Amino acid sequence: MEWEHRLTGRAKRLVPSVISEMMRLAAGKGVVSFTAGQPSADLYPTDELVAALGESLRGFPEGLAYPHPLGDDKLRGWIASWLIREEIAPARTEASRILLTTGSQQGLSMLAQLFIEPGSRILVEDPSYPEALLTFGREGAEFVPVPIEADGPDIAALERALRSGPFAFFYTIPSFQNPTGYTTSTEKKRAVLGLAAKYGVPIVEDEPYYFLRYEGAPPETYLALSGGEGVLYLGSFSKIVAPGIRCGFMVLPPELADRASMLRVTLEIGLPAFLQRGLAILFDSPFFPSHLARLRRAYGARRDGLVQAVDEHLVPLGFRSTIPQGGFFLWGRKKGIDAMPFTFRAVREFGVGVIPGSIFFVDEHAGKEWLRLSFASVSPEDSKEGCRRLAEAFGKDP
Ligand SMILES: Cc1ncc(COP(=O)(O)O)c(C=O)c1O
Repeated sequence: MEWEHRLTGRAKRLVPSVISEMMRLAAGKGVVSFTAGQPSADLYPTDELVAALGESLRGFPEGLAYPHPLGDDKLRGWIASWLIREEIAPARTEASRILLTTGSQQGLSMLAQLFIEPGSRILVEDPSYPEALLTFGREGAEFVPVPIEADGPDIAALERALRSGPFAFFYTIPSFQNPTGYTTSTEKKRAVLGLAAKYGVPIVEDEPYYFLRYEGAPPETYLALSGGEGVLYLGSFSKIVAPGIRCGFMVLPPELADRASMLRVTLEIGLPAFLQRGLAILFDSPFFPSHLARLRRAYGARRDGLVQAVDEHLVPLGFRSTIPQGGFFLWGRKKGIDAMPFTFRAVREFGVGVIPGSIFFVDEHAGKEWLRLSFASVSPEDSKEGCRRLAEAFGKDP
């Protein structure tokens, strides 16, 4: 049967993910992979999860019944008080505003379905997380890029763009951004909030890396600074528990929670309740804060290892990067390379996987000299070897 002509406009707008393809190539034997924003398998809390999930299955029969569309009450309650305690959300944030997701990716997908129609314009940091752009693009969004600087979006460019509104929303990753590792300063957040209020544009705040901070004070969030007005917040347990559990959450304005609940019913009715209850049990235990501290130590050491290896092998060749204060990514520029063919050659011929910067920009011709290196799963020793191979690849670049 011929399928192509039967597909919807939405299906035809789907395109492959370059990151997935590069991760596949870099998974080959002997390759040092700086590709994935995937947490390190040795840091998954496997034993604690087994115990918490077992307890949830045994002590909570509703865990195997059809779940509530917004998610498990106990976990939503825990998340609300955690966000308030950490000053991520305003003091009065109620659990009724929390919607559990199968991760931020699903949150983005739900927001796309709630707010984007073919031709809707959205503001995005440039560069930004490509799978978010794929998701918004699937619904037919048109992107208006806002250049990002080391302390956040270029405010003058944002205001210029806002004058050409309307926009469905401004999508931002304020902490240890993917791919740049940049963190938006409080000063810039206040400026963005002022502009968003002036032009009536919601802010979608995507914070999967927030808790992976290796130095500095915890960033103030748009959600807290705004008092909750006009901000749609996305959180995720992928990077701080494990991505395979597929669990995250959104903090929505009260008026939107019902609409999102109706959308959920049409998607998958609800998410696995026993898993969410198991997570609530895990988070309530003293284990969780010590686990977060362990993650920060381990990833911080890997960040330092990569920075040192870059200094030793790549800086002498003219590679320039900033040191991220958290998250998984080091973002760097090597003048004269064409990142897309370079990265395919680097993985195939030199055994080192990195992500080409061009895939993160709205304009596919931009970012040719940029590379993203993830240190999440790379030990300091492997970082040395990976950077040595990258230096070799730079040296042989035609
Ligand atoms: C900025 C950003 N948003 C969302 C996601 C998706 O995360 P999740 O596993 O919570 O769906 C990622 C994953 O790498 C990401 O980097």
